Amino acid sequence: MNENQIKKPIGIIGAMDEEVSLLKGSASARLAETVAGMEFFTGELGDTPVVIVKCGIGKVNAGICTQILISRFQPAAIINTGVAGSLNADIDIGDIVVSTEAVQHDFNVSEIGVARGEIPPTGRVAFPADSSLCRMASEAVHLVSPEIHVFEGRICSGDQFISSRRQKEAIIQAFGGLCCEMEGAAIAQVCYLNETPFVILRAISDKADESSEVSFAEFCETSAHRCAAIVKAMISSME
Ligand code: ADE
Repeated sequence: MNENQIKKPIGIIGAMDEEVSLLKGSASARLAETVAGMEFFTGELGDTPVVIVKCGIGKVNAGICTQILISRFQPAAIINTGVAGSLNADIDIGDIVVSTEAVQHDFNVSEIGVARGEIPPTGRVAFPADSSLCRMASEAVHLVSPEIHVFEGRICSGDQFISSRRQKEAIIQAFGGLCCEMEGAAIAQVCYLNETPFVILRAISDKADESSEVSFAEFCETSAHRCAAIVKAMISSME
């Protein structure tokens, strides 16, 4: 048995084709298994075995996908790559956000005495990302493109595409956070429950306001590819 066969893979999850296609090409990925309609591809980025999967949009898809990935492939860590809307005036289109933690901004059972955003029975509002993966991701950004601005902090996920100042301000007021997207915190919750280290890496495609539909259409692909290049650099730095 060679080293690759015993090395645990790194799991990479993206919601859309744009977010995983480049990585699948780089990893010479082969279809290993289809479960719940999700295709799990295995390959190598450099010397590191990887499992790459498109989960589809939203928290349920992301949660199902993450549990299957963990149960079937026992990854050493999971990286979620993709695009996001900015929640912070300093964070512009093309900038990168690396998660220190993730929250579900649309989860609210405060009417029955649970704190806003807290997910029973975990007792947690925020699920912490792995600090070494977080550092590696930020370092990879500096390595790939030193001119790109990278921010580390909280990522807010929910089952809505945020496209108005009103929605955006409500999230900022309740949770703070650097950017909003639709999968990261579900992946974070499943990783937390399975004690699997994770990090979320997002390139900003829009400002999560009235301009976001047009901006998303224009920048989704380039932002997703930017993120994929960073994931590649991050994984080669692990070797
Ligand atoms: N992903 C990219 N932009 C987003 C937005 N504005 N809302 C939710 N998810 C996103």
